[in-house]
Amino acid sequence: MTVGSISFHAAADALAGDGWCVVDDLLDASQVTALAAECAAMHDASLLQPAATGAERKLSTLRGDRTHWFATGAMSAPQQAFTDRLDALCGVLNRELMLGLVECESHYAVYRPGAVYARHRDRLRHSDARVVSAVFYLNADWRERDGGALRLYLADDAHRDILPQAGRLLLFLSERFEHEVLPATRDRMSIASWLRRRSSGVPL
Ligand code: OGA
Ligand code: MN
Repeated sequence: MTVGSISFHAAADALAGDGWCVVDDLLDASQVTALAAECAAMHDASLLQPAATGAERKLSTLRGDRTHWFATGAMSAPQQAFTDRLDALCGVLNRELMLGLVECESHYAVYRPGAVYARHRDRLRHSDARVVSAVFYLNADWRERDGGALRLYLADDAHRDILPQAGRLLLFLSERFEHEVLPATRDRMSIASWLRRRSSGVPL
């Protein structure tokens, strides 16, 4: 068994228990660096679009990031390596928790200094397809004073702040947890992904 599948096994236990966890060994350092370099280069080339929220994908004041969706069948090598690992995670979660995950969707996101994503839940109103939210961070040498934590709201309004440190993957159940992105003092890069099941198609 590889190191990855051991930590995926632990992640399955954590999702079944607390409903969230952090995995720090999804990819090796060179793969993380390749993703960060690609995201930064695409942002510099103005290839990221102002993010939208909700079914109508309206431009939003709720969030200030710019995004680029990974295109199925046309991914760069770093994007494919990342997606392959998430697909492997889906396999473990399906075997151990019978979640019925069939695919993942992912986008790069860049938050300029001061940009936020206000408190929200990831489950879309018109679809129950998103089961697990997975946020992967691409920022080398992130310190607490840089801000930019992902604030995850737990029961009774307790919360945990997760720093967007390169190589860190945060997993949580999309339906259960509200969360927000706090402002940072430097550019903040992430990949936001959702592990999806087939939507029931029933309006929620
Ligand atoms: C999102 C989100 C968090 C992050 O895109 O829905 O909550 O830390 N992103 O980038
Ligand atoms: Mn979110």
